Amino acid sequence: MKNSFSPVVRYFLSILFLTFSLLSCKKKDPGLKDVFSDAFLIGTCMNVTQINGTDLKAKPFIAANFNSVTAENAMKWERIHPVPGKYDFAVADSIVKFALANKMFVVGHVLVWHSQTPDWVFQDSLGNPLTRDALISRMKEHIFTVVGHFRGRVKGWDVLNEAVDEDGSLRKSKWLEIIGKDYIQLAFEFANAADPWAELYYNDYNNELPAKREGILPIIKDLKQKGVKIDGVGIQGHWHLDSPKLNVIDESISKYASLGLKVMITEMEVNVLPTPPEVYGADVSQQARYLETLNPYPAGLPDSVSNQLAQRYADLFGVLMKHKDAVTRVTFWGVHDGYSWKNDWPIKGRTNYPLLFDRNYKPKKAFYSVIKTAKN
Ligand code: G3I
Repeated sequence: MKNSFSPVVRYFLSILFLTFSLLSCKKKDPGLKDVFSDAFLIGTCMNVTQINGTDLKAKPFIAANFNSVTAENAMKWERIHPVPGKYDFAVADSIVKFALANKMFVVGHVLVWHSQTPDWVFQDSLGNPLTRDALISRMKEHIFTVVGHFRGRVKGWDVLNEAVDEDGSLRKSKWLEIIGKDYIQLAFEFANAADPWAELYYNDYNNELPAKREGILPIIKDLKQKGVKIDGVGIQGHWHLDSPKLNVIDESISKYASLGLKVMITEMEVNVLPTPPEVYGADVSQQARYLETLNPYPAGLPDSVSNQLAQRYADLFGVLMKHKDAVTRVTFWGVHDGYSWKNDWPIKGRTNYPLLFDRNYKPKKAFYSVIKTAKN
C-alpha cells in the first residue's frame, strides 16, 4: 500500500512517536554506587536473611547498589567465636564470598568491642577474672585467628569499636579494666601483624561530637607517634532529622583528616522517630519503654516527614561530598527500612524509615535527593 504521507509529515510523526515512547517508558534508576563512583565507596551491612537467600530480592539488589559490604553481626565475637576454642565462620564466609564475587570491598566488623563479647572472654575456666597477660593472649589469639582467616579477602578492619565515652574519657570496659589503656595499641599491633595489607580503623558513634572527638584525637595521635598502624576513623553516623548539626560533622571530618586518616561513615541512617534524650547514640545495652506516642507512623511516613528526610540526607551528603578527598566510604546500616536495627532500638517494635529504600526496595525521595548531590 502506498504511504500517503509526505516525507516531511512522516519525519514529524516519527519525532512525535519517539518523544512519546521516551516519556512513557520509565527511566531505570542508577545504582547508588555508580552515582558516587568518583567520590567514595557506597556500602551496606548484610544479615543472615539476605545472605542465605530467604529474601530472594536482597542479593541482586545489593550487588546493583553497593560496592562495599560489612557483616552486620556475623563477625562479632559472640557469633564468630562463641565458646573457647570454637570458631564459626559459616555466615561470615558466605557474606565475604558473595561480596568478592561482586567485586565489593569487604569490611571486617569488629575485632575488639565491649559489647557482644561473651563473659567467658574475660574469665578463666573457674569464672575468675583473667589476668592482664592471659587476656592479652586471648585477644591476640582471637585477632590472629579471625584476621588470618580472612587475610587477603577482608580489606579493612574495625579493629576497635566504641572505646570512648561521651565525655571523651576511656570507656570503663573489661578490656580497659583488666589490661589497662595499652589494650588499644595492642589490638592495632596484633591486627597489623595478622594482615599487614589490611586497612585498620577506629570506629565509634557520636565521635563527631566535640567532647567525644577531643578524647579520641589524642589516642590516635599517640598511636601514630608510636608508629602503630591506623589508617582510618569510622564515624558510625547513627543520625537524626535535626541532629547533629552539619557544621559539627564538617569540622570533625576535617579534624580527623588532618591527622592523615581516611574518614568513613560506617553505619549511616537517619532516625525519623522521637528519641528519648537518655538514649541518644547507639549503645545497644540501653532500652526505653514503648509508648504509642513514640511510634507515630506505623502505617506509613507522612509526606511532610519524607520531605524532611530527603532534605536532611541531601544536606548530609552535601557535607560528605565537600570532603570527598578525605571520605573514602559511606556505608548504610541496612539495605532498606525494614532491615534497620532502628525499628527495635532504643524501643522494640516501632516502625522507622531511616534509609534510602523502602520496605519494597523502592527508592524513596531521600534516594533522589542524595543522588542529586553527586551532580552538584
Ligand atoms: O538472630 C537472633 C535471633 O535468633 C533471636 O531470636 C533474637 C532474639 O532477640 O535475636 C537475634 O539476634 C539479634 C540480632 O541483632 C539480629 O537481629 C540480637 O538479639 C541483637 O542484639 C542484634 O543487634 C545488633 C546489635 O548491633 C548488637 O550486636 C544489630 O542487629 C546491629 O545492627 C547492631 O549494630 C551495631 C554495630 O555493630 C556497632 N555500632 C552500633 C550498631 C547499632 O547498635
